[in-house]
Amino acid sequence: MENLFNDEVMALDTYIMVKLKEKTAQLADSLAKKNRAPIALSMGAPTANPPAMLIEKLKEFLTEDNIHTYSVTRGELYFRQAVAERMKNRFGVELDVNKEVFSLLGSKDGLANLIRFLINPKSDELEKEIILIPDPGYASYGQMVQCSGGKAFPIPLTAENNYMPDMEQVLGNLEAAGLDSKKVKAVIINYPNNPLGASATKEYVQSVIDFCKRHNYLLIADAAYCDLYFNEDEKPFSVLELKGAKDVAVELFSLSKPYAITGWRLGWMCGNAEVISRFGKAKSTIDNGIFKALQKACAYIMNSPEGEDYIAQGNAAYRRKQAIMVKGLKELGWEIDDAKLPHTTFYLWLPIPKKYDSSFKFCEDLLEKSGIVVVPGDAFGEYGKGFFRISYVCSDEKLQEVIDRMKADGFKY
Ligand SMILES: Cc1ncc(COP(=O)(O)O)c(C=O)c1O
Repeated sequence: MENLFNDEVMALDTYIMVKLKEKTAQLADSLAKKNRAPIALSMGAPTANPPAMLIEKLKEFLTEDNIHTYSVTRGELYFRQAVAERMKNRFGVELDVNKEVFSLLGSKDGLANLIRFLINPKSDELEKEIILIPDPGYASYGQMVQCSGGKAFPIPLTAENNYMPDMEQVLGNLEAAGLDSKKVKAVIINYPNNPLGASATKEYVQSVIDFCKRHNYLLIADAAYCDLYFNEDEKPFSVLELKGAKDVAVELFSLSKPYAITGWRLGWMCGNAEVISRFGKAKSTIDNGIFKALQKACAYIMNSPEGEDYIAQGNAAYRRKQAIMVKGLKELGWEIDDAKLPHTTFYLWLPIPKKYDSSFKFCEDLLEKSGIVVVPGDAFGEYGKGFFRISYVCSDEKLQEVIDRMKADGFKY
């Protein structure tokens, strides 16, 4: 069977979250016996219940005529209209529902398919088409590019460049590595960023738009965390608010995190009409869109007072949870500068304790000794070495227990 599969796909490592889940499941019994039942701070998946009104609406729509039949790949008109309304109210962005909005089975579906529709697969390393990806960044980007027969090249996000690197410098790095900047097809940006929680200024993102225009690259903006923010005056913006964005960019949004419905699989892509049209043509050969009752329920919640209240309450809870973790980690010796803490997402990005020289080893020890599951920084790219990521998505009590276990089991910075 081995020879039957695509070499690039078979060369992929198992997805980090799957690996962590498998390892945790293997250890679950022995950890429970020593009073260290696993606490997952690994997945970026909210554990709260979704908005009650969303469930009500879903129940209501389940009995409608014609609701259980195929939808369409680009999404029902009511879903696309709801997206346009939200984009207008939230960001002041006007969208043509027929040309500039497309539904996704989660933003991961959009990213994976867009990437493979862009890349002409090549096996020769120097011939490969290139996508620039944030590093550290969402672990799937690199794997999606690799299994599409392309090459991912890092956009280094470091404290020194304030997580907003000069893109011409990135091209300089690429040429210095013996690669050809003409092979670059697209640039992915992700602000607020997973795993860092870092945000970008409008000036910076405008410079990335201008860069993409200059070089004829597609800009893919991943806005999965745009509704997870702590302060009203620091609300993340849409790339499409900026000058010339629609000429070069598409932006991907996700309903997974703001409404705690990671299992429902809903998102959308919007922006450049030609990209949406080409994407739609290819995508129509693959799926029939999202279950209509889900689209209808989400179309409701996206523009409702209940939806806004839910997001506000969720963000207040994440802010409180961040404070619990930061207080505890400081007691354990982590040097955390409050002024530099992220005000977005539900992630904390921290250096591993001084006595460790491997993020994997630290995360393995923390799991095996204390039943605490966190993600090694290397999983997010080469610039993630020496760090680990915490998702503070579980209850306040569990977060406190994490700190108590680390204290009791001798984990300190
Ligand atoms: C940066 C980023 N983009 C996209 C996704 C995918 O989200 P979904 O497919 O649930 O919309 C995730 C999930 O963790 C993410 O962290």
